[in-house]
Amino acid sequence: MADEGPIARAISGRPPFGPIERLEHARLREEQQATLRSPRRKASISARLLFLVMDRVYGEARTLEKFRVLELVARVPYQAWENVAYVAVTHTASQPGFARRVFDRVRISRWEQDNEQWHLLMLEELVAADAAGSWLRNRVVPQVLAFGYYQLSWLTFAIKPAWSYRLNADFEDHAEHEYALFVQEHPEWETTTFNSRFTEDFGHYDSLADLFRQIGYDERLHKLQSEAAMAAPRFT
Ligand SMILES: [Fe+2]
Ligand SMILES: [Fe+2]
Repeated sequence: MADEGPIARAISGRPPFGPIERLEHARLREEQQATLRSPRRKASISARLLFLVMDRVYGEARTLEKFRVLELVARVPYQAWENVAYVAVTHTASQPGFARRVFDRVRISRWEQDNEQWHLLMLEELVAADAAGSWLRNRVVPQVLAFGYYQLSWLTFAIKPAWSYRLNADFEDHAEHEYALFVQEHPEWETTTFNSRFTEDFGHYDSLADLFRQIGYDERLHKLQSEAAMAAPRFT
């Protein structure tokens, strides 16, 4: 791809088509500061409603529990897109070029779904070490939120993909900024080591602060990917 700007990189320089981008400490700090300096997207009504519900149920403070719920919800647009695109690809046998582009979307959705899954599994580990709250609040409410968000992502994607990409861009932008602030609020995490059963899958980081900075950076790439997809015609 000729243009090597951030949006082009978000599409071509990321798995499944490019290498995994894992940053070193100095670069992670720079990217966190860049996030803190950058304005937030003007979120859509549905995204704002979701953030409002999360604030009401889990409180306005940034907590590990709240980020765990955020990551559980974060997977579902990718699941919905994979589902819709996979159905679409079965009806494109007479147009191989189009089928290839649709299938590339399926592959991106699968990879990003897994990326969100690693985020979730590591948050699960951290929350388990400091478990609190009721079964309803920890298990039922997040599943209800994820179910509703899946339906909305699926339906908007089936009608007009740009709507669904916009919703996800809003969500990822929120996640990127929230992670950057979360790290800023916890200077003690600079010297907190993080040991996980998923290090082999997600990478090793010297501190909990750097782990969250990398997750926040992933969220930015997700946002850029959705912003690029919003601007592109359907499956091109
Ligand atoms: Fe995530
Ligand atoms: Fe994300």
